[in-house]
Amino acid sequence: MDLYEGILTTRAIRRYTDEPVTREEIEACLRAAQQAPSGGNTQPWQYVVVTHPERKRRVAGIYRAAYERWERAQLSALPPFRTEEERETFMRGIRASRYLAEHLDTAAALVLFCVPKISIAPRDDDGVVEIGPLYASVYPAVQNFILAARSFGIGTVLTTVWWSRQDDLRRLLGIPDRYEIVALVPMGRPRGSFGIAPRRRAEDITHWEQW
Ligand SMILES: Cc1cc2nc3c(=O)[nH]c(=O)nc-3n(C[C@H](O)[C@H](O)[C@H](O)COP(=O)(O)O)c2cc1C
Repeated sequence: MDLYEGILTTRAIRRYTDEPVTREEIEACLRAAQQAPSGGNTQPWQYVVVTHPERKRRVAGIYRAAYERWERAQLSALPPFRTEEERETFMRGIRASRYLAEHLDTAAALVLFCVPKISIAPRDDDGVVEIGPLYASVYPAVQNFILAARSFGIGTVLTTVWWSRQDDLRRLLGIPDRYEIVALVPMGRPRGSFGIAPRRRAEDITHWEQW
């Protein structure tokens, strides 16, 4: 597949068939993640790959509890919609997210990205020399993983809605306290299809030479 076409047609896939995803495919996606850039080439992340059905169910239980709380809060303070179409688009997103929350364990694998709770910024006499958040050094790896999965016809979606239950996930999976989980990516063969998702037009938000 052409790289550019692969990027354009990668979108959130939350519904999966029960076709398998092989260990070789997962490992190939992880190798792609390893090639991502990171500040100073620190490569601070580690992965936890969950494929065992019972363990996936337990992760799904934690995810769902966090999701329910988020959805309640979100629906009780809806953003103002300019049009009915905008409202429907938003509600479609909620329904798709809820579906995932109710079926997370149907993904062939759940891949967690973890980073240590450290700062890689040096100090000088004036204090910390800020170089941006550590997260900036891991999400490129997540996106590489997602794009590699796309190249194998495997659907994924970056998720963070479980964040309020981060401690429960860490405990369940034996992740050391000094690590923060920053992404949970379910992967599976899509029940829907890949395609170009609606987005704002780049030219409407691009400032050439000066804002
Ligand atoms: C930082 C981040 C966090 C996200 N968290 C979740 C999540 O917890 N659950 C979920 O179902 N989707 C989550 N998403 C997916 C977005 O909802 C999705 O990328 C967006 O709606 C665009 O979807 P589309 O590519 O299908 O148009 C997240 C995406 C990002 C980048």
